[in-house]
Amino acid sequence: MPTINRQFAKYSFVLLAGIILALIFGCTNDHPQSPFDAVGPVSESQALIFYIISYAGIVVFVIVMALLAYFTFKYRKRSENEGDPEQIHGNSTFEIAWTVIPALLLIAVAVPTINSLWDTTVSPEPDALVVRVTGNQWWFRFDIPELGVVTANELHIPVGEVINIELDSKDVIHSFWVPKLAGKVDMIPNNENTMWFQSNEEGIFYGQCAEFCGESHALMRFKVVVESRKEFDAWVASQLLDAIKPSDPLSQQGHDLFMSSEAGCYACHTIRGSQKAYGEVGPELTHFASRLHMLSGIMDNTHENLISWLTDPDEVKPGNIMSKNASVYNDPDKVLSDPEITALAAYLRSLK
Ligand code: CUA
Repeated sequence: MPTINRQFAKYSFVLLAGIILALIFGCTNDHPQSPFDAVGPVSESQALIFYIISYAGIVVFVIVMALLAYFTFKYRKRSENEGDPEQIHGNSTFEIAWTVIPALLLIAVAVPTINSLWDTTVSPEPDALVVRVTGNQWWFRFDIPELGVVTANELHIPVGEVINIELDSKDVIHSFWVPKLAGKVDMIPNNENTMWFQSNEEGIFYGQCAEFCGESHALMRFKVVVESRKEFDAWVASQLLDAIKPSDPLSQQGHDLFMSSEAGCYACHTIRGSQKAYGEVGPELTHFASRLHMLSGIMDNTHENLISWLTDPDEVKPGNIMSKNASVYNDPDKVLSDPEITALAAYLRSLK
């Protein structure tokens, strides 16, 4: 029996060490969602707090474990008939020391933590650009009221400028997180939370819903495209334009289908400049084709991916409203034919 126990202990140790190593090496800065590669003041402040607390924790852990090992060895039972070592009760010096030292440690950690909480919650520029973010199962709506921009799942912001974020949700609790920029803050229905961020680097940064919100929670992502002021202004100008009118027969056919009562897409999506499509249940699609990614950042915006989405949305994003509510997906008599799907995809991909 003791041999088995020893072997078990040995394998458990190897397994545990393996898991810890895998976790340590999993924390690479190169990962698109690594908060250790902070590119803005908010995430830098959050990373700093993480390091302060981790290092303080490591120091305490090492000291306590070393003392534990030392005393375990020093006072081990050397023979069967050896009695207990001398028992001591009460020592004012020690009692005071082990009350004061942890209290000092906690204060040392609390001061920068509270500072950082304040700095990361309260915007340094309350009048800076406001982006309203609304969580939906499972996508993000972005409004920039001051500029009249409404878009979904892909937010553009200018580099080096403070962005004030207002968070809301249409259904359940979601959480807004862009690991390299800031987060996480909950998005709660009928309760506006605010945060802010700023990116010091241009690039595309990944965002992710960080609160379990149903079947496709893991597929609720978005991108933040950080660009120069000039590029941002150009993006805003292009987003404000009405949708491009179909210029070839195939996309015209897709357009007609989109606006038809058989397919009914227009009832849930907005295409600005159209006569009918002002729905707000699904993502706004006026400039769908200008986005790098589709379906809240889970796929590249390509014709093939769009075809697979339109063919069987539930397969791509399980539980989504479109596959549940749109008659073309829940009524076998109304299923879209392959040519119809191709035409719809052609139309959507023309919406630059
Ligand atoms: Cu939204 Cu998880």
